[in-house]
Amino acid sequence: MAPTVPWPSNGSSRAALRCLVNGEAGSDLDVADRGLAYGDGLFETLAVRAGRPCCWLDHLDRLALGAVRLGLPPPSPARLKAEAGQLGAGVEHGTLKIILTRGPSARGYRPPPEPRPTRILMLNARAALDTETDSHRRGARVRLCRTRLGTNPQLAGLKHLNRLEQVLARAEWTDASIDEGLMLDAEGTLVCGTMTNLFLADGDRLRTPLIDRCGVAGTARARVLAAARAAGLDVREQRLRLTDLMRAHGAFLTNALIGIWPIRLFEGRTFEPSRLPWALLEPIHARLLQPESDW
Ligand SMILES: Cc1ncc(COP(=O)(O)O)c(C=O)c1O
Repeated sequence: MAPTVPWPSNGSSRAALRCLVNGEAGSDLDVADRGLAYGDGLFETLAVRAGRPCCWLDHLDRLALGAVRLGLPPPSPARLKAEAGQLGAGVEHGTLKIILTRGPSARGYRPPPEPRPTRILMLNARAALDTETDSHRRGARVRLCRTRLGTNPQLAGLKHLNRLEQVLARAEWTDASIDEGLMLDAEGTLVCGTMTNLFLADGDRLRTPLIDRCGVAGTARARVLAAARAAGLDVREQRLRLTDLMRAHGAFLTNALIGIWPIRLFEGRTFEPSRLPWALLEPIHARLLQPESDW
């Protein structure tokens, strides 16, 4: 089905971007929006295939839980679904970003008693899948970031709009051969990648950092944990240090756009992606990037 609204474009680099703000086509935003002023809001990033999002309910659930934790009025699932369908129409491969903010307010941090949330959906059409890149096929080359994650259990797990730590961490390298950077918290505990969650694999044992003091509770991470537990594997969420990674047989990263991404190289240590438990991981990877059938 062709899009039913005209998609404004601000130049060739944004020609593939389709945007809805509170259901209206375009990118007009109130400058008093608290998402802009304070990062007061949440976001989700989803893969889109054949016009349909992947793992829609996983993202909707995290958004709804995040809204409860931040005291934001919950978004309407039916409205989000209709808008995602409208943007995705005719797009073969894409990335859908959903942003939910507390909306505009008067000056000052105090949240408005009756917020009027802003809902932004952005669809970026892509020429190819993120999993068809060389870096995915060969495995990720990963570095250690100097930027540390601050501890805040109140925000841990949320995909909130305050991402300055990730921005500073990603600004640490320009070398195009490096795919991702791992981040530690202030105590030197391993937490995640700048845009991914981390797993260590030793035979049938999987370990991933706890996301109780900082970090994003990834939807792909949750899928791996659930599938591994269902398969009876020894799965642990625990504090991990760099030495644990250096001693692990294998390691991989997860996110909703890339799925399962083996680590090939980390700070001079090479990992053999074939040593990962692919009998478990392959179906999860396929499921993560499978468009919704009920759409
Ligand atoms: C900081 C951070 N951690 C983890 C993730 C993985 O989350 P998900 O699996 O939901 O994509 C992301 C995704 O963008 C992220 O930005």
